[in-house]
Formats: sequence, structure tokens, C-alpha cells
Amino acid sequence: MFKRLVKYCVICFFLLLSAIKGMSQNAKQTGLSKRTKECFDFNWHFHKGDIAIKRAVKAAGYGGLTDINVKVETNKEAVIAYTDVDKASTFKPEDWREVDLPHDWCVEGTFVNDKSIGSAPAVSGYLPGGIGFYRKEFEIPESDKGKKISIEFDGIFRNSTVWVNGQLMGSHQSGYTPSNYDLTDILRYGNEGKNVILVKVDATEYEGWWYEGCGIYRHVWLNKTDKLHVDRFGTYVTTPVVSPDEAAVNIKTSIKNEYGAIKNITLISKIVDNKGVVLATKTSTQAIEPFGTTEVSQKGAIQKPLLWSPETPNLYKILTEVAENGNIIDNYETTFGVRTIEISRNGVFLNGKLYPVKGTCNHQDFAGIGVALPDKINEYKLKLLKEVGCNAYRCSHHPPTPELLDMCDRMGLLVLDENRMLSSSEEGIKDLTTMLSRDRNHPSIFMWSMENEEWIQGTVTGARILKTMVDITHKIDPTRPVTAAMNHGRNEGGYSDVLDVVGYNYGDKGLAYVKDHEKYPNRIEFCTEATSFISTRGEYQNDWGKGYVSNLGLWQPGWGPLPGEDWADIVKYPYLGGLFVWTGFDYRGEPTPYQWPCVTSHFGFMDICGFPKDGYYAYKAAWTNEPVVHIFPHWNWPGKVGDSIQVHCYTNCDEVELLLNGKRIGTQKAIPYTKLIWKLIYKPGKLEARGYKGGKLVTTDIVETTSDPAQVALKSDCSVLKADGCDVAVIRVVIKDKQGRVVPVADNLVTFSIDGPGRIIGTGNGNPSSHEPDKASQRMAFNGYCLVLVQSNKQAGEIRLKAASGTLKGDEVVLKVQ
Ligand code: GAL
Repeated sequence: MFKRLVKYCVICFFLLLSAIKGMSQNAKQTGLSKRTKECFDFNWHFHKGDIAIKRAVKAAGYGGLTDINVKVETNKEAVIAYTDVDKASTFKPEDWREVDLPHDWCVEGTFVNDKSIGSAPAVSGYLPGGIGFYRKEFEIPESDKGKKISIEFDGIFRNSTVWVNGQLMGSHQSGYTPSNYDLTDILRYGNEGKNVILVKVDATEYEGWWYEGCGIYRHVWLNKTDKLHVDRFGTYVTTPVVSPDEAAVNIKTSIKNEYGAIKNITLISKIVDNKGVVLATKTSTQAIEPFGTTEVSQKGAIQKPLLWSPETPNLYKILTEVAENGNIIDNYETTFGVRTIEISRNGVFLNGKLYPVKGTCNHQDFAGIGVALPDKINEYKLKLLKEVGCNAYRCSHHPPTPELLDMCDRMGLLVLDENRMLSSSEEGIKDLTTMLSRDRNHPSIFMWSMENEEWIQGTVTGARILKTMVDITHKIDPTRPVTAAMNHGRNEGGYSDVLDVVGYNYGDKGLAYVKDHEKYPNRIEFCTEATSFISTRGEYQNDWGKGYVSNLGLWQPGWGPLPGEDWADIVKYPYLGGLFVWTGFDYRGEPTPYQWPCVTSHFGFMDICGFPKDGYYAYKAAWTNEPVVHIFPHWNWPGKVGDSIQVHCYTNCDEVELLLNGKRIGTQKAIPYTKLIWKLIYKPGKLEARGYKGGKLVTTDIVETTSDPAQVALKSDCSVLKADGCDVAVIRVVIKDKQGRVVPVADNLVTFSIDGPGRIIGTGNGNPSSHEPDKASQRMAFNGYCLVLVQSNKQAGEIRLKAASGTLKGDEVVLKVQ
């Protein structure tokens, strides 16, 4: 009897298995219900300036549709911004201008030192902020009726309010977390008419102390799914056990049923490698309650997994299918990686090996475009950071745009993902949990940061708030340690005890973290921020009038060491885990140590255009195996002939020999991570540094006195652009003399003209005190260089960008758009 029962059970089990298997193999894609994610960046209208929304209209917005949904008035004349399309005839386009997103209106302004109009040194880099409105008309086909349709804003700076067809959808404060609105009921389908979305952006208040921009500055997406679908940020993939033979893969999928009836679904999760080969398929059945969300757990494995690291950014995917009665109702893709991270009192261990983190902190902006970065520019910045030897990126001091995290996964950079505010208020926790659920599948993220340098660090209240945040973070993602970037209060109020890893923003030149390591035997430390070296590219004298700081290190804030010297601490005390240099790139705002006329920070080892400063080479020498010898200053000092001059050198060679006009000045043995300095008498000509390793000449660097500017030379980072209206060519502009040498003091005005399917979206030159407009077709060179950004249109063809400068020989770049 017992035997028969067992046999019966076994048969039932196999029947069930084959039924499930059959379901997964037979599940059909029903074109009707396929999930789509449409880019919603194009064809918006923008109105700059405040608009008074009438009271009655506001009330109507809460209650339902109204004829005149939003009546707006500017100072001078009334402007009607109907969100109701039936009144669209009264919408006056002349009061609005066409824009595509991402868009930052702040960077389009004129520099002015006037607080009363919202221009401040830190938050806006002396560009006025204020209020702006975005409006877009769009159609939704009849065939979308019955789907769930939502709009996702990746980031709006800040305090945004959204109306659709006159209905107030909601508002969102944070300028750094995404917002999402369900539009399903309010949309007009097919013949019902056009739809209008209106977004008010109020950037009068700030969140940080750097340039934050204004507007819908990240991508916008229109998402369409069945009413039965994977929830927003609805998958969580972890690899809890990893060995060379196998990685366990845990998949949690949240499925949302927005039907009024129970749904019996089959969840099929395919583990796929980077060539699209399906490695394993997991199938589960589940009943989902009406208007309910259920999390389904599945376990899979990858044999002989290819591990993720910055050097080998191997990625896998989970392809999720939700099926009902054999039809696929929804599909969803999650990228993940297999790697282990451990941070201990011995350092950071990636895949079991000590892995010193070579990182930079960065804000979001870039020359020419403020914070509205096309994806290509984020990729360009990361590429430059990888070239200097970086293996990590800190999103200071807020969550980044999600595309940046995809790039860090793909290109290989560890990420310290940072929450903006220390807050356990409802809003604060919502922002934190949004960051965690949105980002927790990225293999690049190795640690969460709860906050940066909040005033109440080291207080009992601060510790209580922090504890709530850390507990929530551990619940949402138990796989990563949690830190906070601290510059004070590390040993007070129980604040540090709440953290897995105590983040040191500067270590009082090494002493704080070394002392604390000995004093607190349970404390795990990490150097979340270092350096803050201030220098203006190509400048070798401090100039208070112009707002320039010398690269020779003549003025340096008390809290940071010289470039590269901070790395010596990491080598000496590997338990610090690594560091994040403040910063990779200069950024608008926080113009330390000066203020007006300075509008940009000087902390980067690259300027705001990505041109390297001298300090860049200190990190290249420390972080790469390439032989580096870099001497500075330049050699164009007509007024200094016969004077004493210092020559500085960053190197990773054993010794460096210096020659002036072929004559040996001397040889110095190098001390790792320390700058070499020679004193000599200045004579124009050719200064040459020769780097030796093991007695062999491995590299040289030359600075030469140049003649006057004679030509403009253009160098684009690419020759082909996609005809997608988004792609960008980054074109470096260099002023050279007759012999083709960069003139390091040149400040010629360069004018650009463009033909073909593209446009100039911005210019820059790295001068922290430049008040020239970024949105222009001309730019002065600054110490030999400037930059122009060209974006493709949506048509194929050939773009010709010409650069001219007075009597100098011009240049041209040809870009294919396809
Ligand atoms: C740090 C701070 C950064 C920046 C930097 C300048 O303390 O975290 O945001 O202000 O100082 O040195």
C-alpha cells in the first residue's frame, strides 16, 4: 500500500513538472500585452519663469477634470497653458519654446552675482534658478486601452508637480530620486483626443552645496504593461554562494495584479549569459490576489560562473516571463553579475582578493550642458576615469541617473551609491527605499552610503535616525555593507556603531583613521573622501583677481594632502580599503577658495571639460602600471629669463633625469607617491624628463617654449554618430603653433559653424572664472584648449563642424550620422 502511494506521488510529481515545463515551452507571446518602455524625451515645450496657477483651477485639479485646468500668468501678459487639449487652440506656442530632454535651464542663464534672483556661489554657480514649466502633447492609440500606462521621470530638479489632462497626478520633492505616475485612467485613447502633460518644476530651494541645475534633467519613460505585471523595480537577484564551480542564483520577483479578479500565473525566469545563451530556466506557479502584489522566490545556479570585476565586467541576465493560461502577459529583464564583496578590518576583498579601491567622487554636471547629460557624456566621463586607472565611482552626494549604473556594470567600475539626506521622515525613507530597490541588482554597487557630512553626525538623534535607515537598508538589501561619509562625530553619540563601515572623509592627514583603527578594535574603516586638491588647469600662479589656483600646490586646504600622497596612506594601511578622491572632474558651484568671479570648483584632477590637470598624472602614476613621467609648469615664461624656477614632476619610475636644451640638470630618485622638485634658472627652449625603471629608459616627457598661436586643431572622440537625436561627439579644440605644439597660454576666441544633421549643444573651456555662455557657437580657449559638443539629429547624413579663429589656420571635423 505504502509503495503504491509513493509510486502514485512520484507519477503526480512528474506530471506536474512536465505540465509546468510544457507551460514554459508553450507559453505564447501575445502581442497585445507585451511590455514596452518608450523614450518620452522628445517634443516638449518649455516656459521659463513663475506662473500663477489660479486657486479654483488648483481645486479642480484635485477633484477631477476641468475646462480651464491651468491658467498661467507671467509678469506682463497672461499665458494660457491649458492641460486640456480641447482648449489647445488657446495654447500660445510663442510663450513656450521647444525642447528635448534631458534639459537644464539653469545652464542657459547669464552669470550674475545677485542672491535676490536665486544666483548663489554654491548651489547654482551664480546662475539664476527659479521655476519652469514643461508641457507636451501626445497620443495614445486605441489599442492601448486596457493596459497599465505609467510615466517614469528618472530625475527632475526639483519639487515637481505633474498634471495630465487637467488632473493633478502628484508631486515629488527630491531632485535626485525618480518619480512615477500611473496615467491609465486619465489618458485619452484613440479618438478620445490628444493628451497633455504639464510639469511644474520649482528649483528655488536647494538640496546641496554644489551646482544642482534646474528642470527635467534626466530621461523620461512611458511604460506600458498588462494589468498583471512585474512590479516597478520588481526583481531582486542575488548570488549568495559563489565558488569557481557554481554560483547559486536567488531570484525574487514581485508580481502585481491590478485586475479585480484572482490571477493564476506561471513565472518563468531564464538565466542567460552575455551571449544570450539560456543557462537555466526556473518555473513556478502562483495565485495573485486581486489588486495584490506577491513576491515569488526561485533558486537557480550558474555552472563555472564568469565573475564580475572592474577588470572583467562579466554580466548575466534574468529574462522574466509572466504567463497566464499559456500566454505570456509580461516580460522583464534584469542584469546582474556574480561576485563577492567583503569589507573587513583588513580591507576590501573582491572575489576573495584584496582589492584597493581607486575611486573618485563626482557631481553630475559637465561643460556646456549643466546636469542634462546625454548618455554619451556620462559614458565619456567614465571612460576618462578608467583611463587614469580608476576602478570606482562615488555618486556624491545623491543617487545617480540609472544609466550611469548600467555603464558602471558594463565598463567595470565599483560604485558607492549614496542617499542624499539623513532622514527617517516618510519622505526620507521613501527616497532611500526608492534608491535601494531601483539599484540593488547592479553588480557594480559594492556599498551603500546613507549620507554625507550631515550636521548631526555624532549626535544621539543622528544615530537614531541613522539606525532606522541602516535597518531598512539591511532589510531591502542584506548583501551589501552600509556606510556614511563622515567628517566629524565619528567617536561620539554612538553614530559610528550603527554603521557596518565607518566612512572617513579625510583622515586629518592620516592620523584620525590610523588612531581610530587602533582604538576601536571592532571598527571597519573606509576612506570615503580624500584629497580636495585645488588647482586651475594650466595655471602656475595664484591669482585672486581672476580666481585661479596654481598647480604647484602654493595653496591647499588644510583638510587634504597633495595629489597622490593620499594613496601612500592606502598602500601603508590597506585596512582603509581604498579611497575616493574629491573630485575626478571640476564642477559648477562651490568655487573654493574664491567666490565671484569664480563660478566653478577647482577640485577635479580634470577640469569640467575633462582636460587633465597636472594632478591627474599623480593618480595615473599611482594607479596604473604604465610608466609615467609628467613635468610642469609649461615652458612659456618670456618675462622670467634668468630667474629661478621650480620644475615639478609626478612619476612612478625609479628615477628621473632632467635636461634643459640637451644639458643635464640632474637626476633624482623617486619616492613613491611623492612629487619630485628641481630648482633651476629659466631659459626658453626644451625641457625634457627621462624616466628610468631598473636602469632602463622607459618614458620621457617634454615641455617646450612655443611660438605664437598659428592653427586651431580639432579632435573628435568619434567619427560616427547614431541618427537618434541623442548621440554626441565630444570635440577637443587645441590652439597650436606653426610646429604643431600646443600653446599653453593661448586664449584665442574660436568660432564654430555646423552643417548637416546635428547641432552644437554646448561649449566649455575649463576656466573656472569664465562667464561666457555655454550655449553658444563660440568659445575662448583657456590655456590652449576648449571643447565643443555636437549632438546628432534623427536624420542620417554628414555633419561638418568647422572651427575658425581670426588669422589662425582653421580646422574641420566630419561626422557620419547613421
Ligand atoms: C567635503 C564635502 C564635499 C566638498 C568637499 C570640498 O567635505 O563632502 O561635498 O564640499 O568637502 O573639499
